[in-house]
Amino acid sequence: MKALVLAGGTGSRLRPLTHTMAKQLIPLGNKPVIRYGIEAIVAAGISEIGVVVGGAAHELRDVIGDGSRFGARITYLVQEEALGLAHAVRVARDWLGDEDFLMYLGDNYLPSGIADLVAQYRAERRALVDAWILLAKVEDPTRFGIAELAADGTVARMEEKPAAPVSDLAVVGVYLFTPAVHEAVAAVGPSARGELEITDAVQWLIDSGRTVRGSSVTGYWKDTGTVDDLLEANNAVLEDVERSVRGEVGEGSEVIGRVRIEAGASIVRSRVVGPAVIGADVLVRDSVVGPFTSVADGCRITGSAVRSSLLLEGVRLDGAGPVEGSLLGRHARVAGPGPGTVAQRLVLGEHSSVLLAGDRTRSPQDPPQEGFKGTS
Ligand code: DAU
Repeated sequence: MKALVLAGGTGSRLRPLTHTMAKQLIPLGNKPVIRYGIEAIVAAGISEIGVVVGGAAHELRDVIGDGSRFGARITYLVQEEALGLAHAVRVARDWLGDEDFLMYLGDNYLPSGIADLVAQYRAERRALVDAWILLAKVEDPTRFGIAELAADGTVARMEEKPAAPVSDLAVVGVYLFTPAVHEAVAAVGPSARGELEITDAVQWLIDSGRTVRGSSVTGYWKDTGTVDDLLEANNAVLEDVERSVRGEVGEGSEVIGRVRIEAGASIVRSRVVGPAVIGADVLVRDSVVGPFTSVADGCRITGSAVRSSLLLEGVRLDGAGPVEGSLLGRHARVAGPGPGTVAQRLVLGEHSSVLLAGDRTRSPQDPPQEGFKGTS
């Protein structure tokens, strides 16, 4: 069985970050989200992987490579325009051949993996199933593809992002297809939003009398399509971090709880509160970092406070904060007069630069507040 990972698309809900990077490369706990997917596919025993790429093809190739480091063989399939998930299957038609395949949306995070699902599919495929989809209960079904189940547990109806949902069972970004799907994706036309929807293709299979089965996700699942989703998924990753301190923690610094500090990082007169990860060659000086914060390689945090945030490579915080619930793109810079009391929530694209005015109640000359180790 082959796997098809979808990593094209425009990432419009994650602008401005996605103007300059693929959303599937945004890191959770300092690891690109797509790598969790590829590792889960390999762990399920599938090593022949096709990755559908759009405008960010080069970057994805740089980060994922030929798959050998994952024990997989990766083929890149270029989708010139993001015309929908069913269109991506059309693009991959020749590469997929006439085998069953797993389709995995590259921005989905499922820490419990898919090995059980794939094993069950392999065992029960002979029960004449034409497609098998993974489902999860959600609070806001209007944001997802939605499935309605028949009394026998098969899928009776599917609808993409319905205004009036008939169920709260969302389609998770993992699908198992027999070659019957190729006929279906060839048959569907564009939806109201102009995309060739995989939900419409699955509905086409149902309408043609084929059997589509659904099973529920057992553990955590997140579609990392928005900033809040990313921050939540990052928290879930950080919950599993184990303490490991390979960088330098200088005198007068504290590292509390489950914190991973990579080699080359330097913590000076600061406090790092877990769960948190600090990447390689990061400098944290006179600052408070965490909890629930990922700091990617090469960041520099001085005289600042940051928590519940995702900092991508090379971010600089200087006299800023408390920065909270924020997503800072690569090499973004935030400067301010020193942490105050009012939390700043920022979503910044690559190389953005922000100068914070600070609390009106405080001046940069005020003594540092409790919990903040001021610059000396
Ligand atoms: O995450 C689950 C949801 O994913 C399902 O409930 C929906 O039924 C399904 O349509 C999909 O909805 P999204 O709106 O989240 O899809 P998104 O546009 O984010 O695309 C999902 C992945 O597929 C993402 O990694 C980008 C990639 N993609 C997307 C399009 C539109 C492509 O590779 N090519 C495309 O043309």
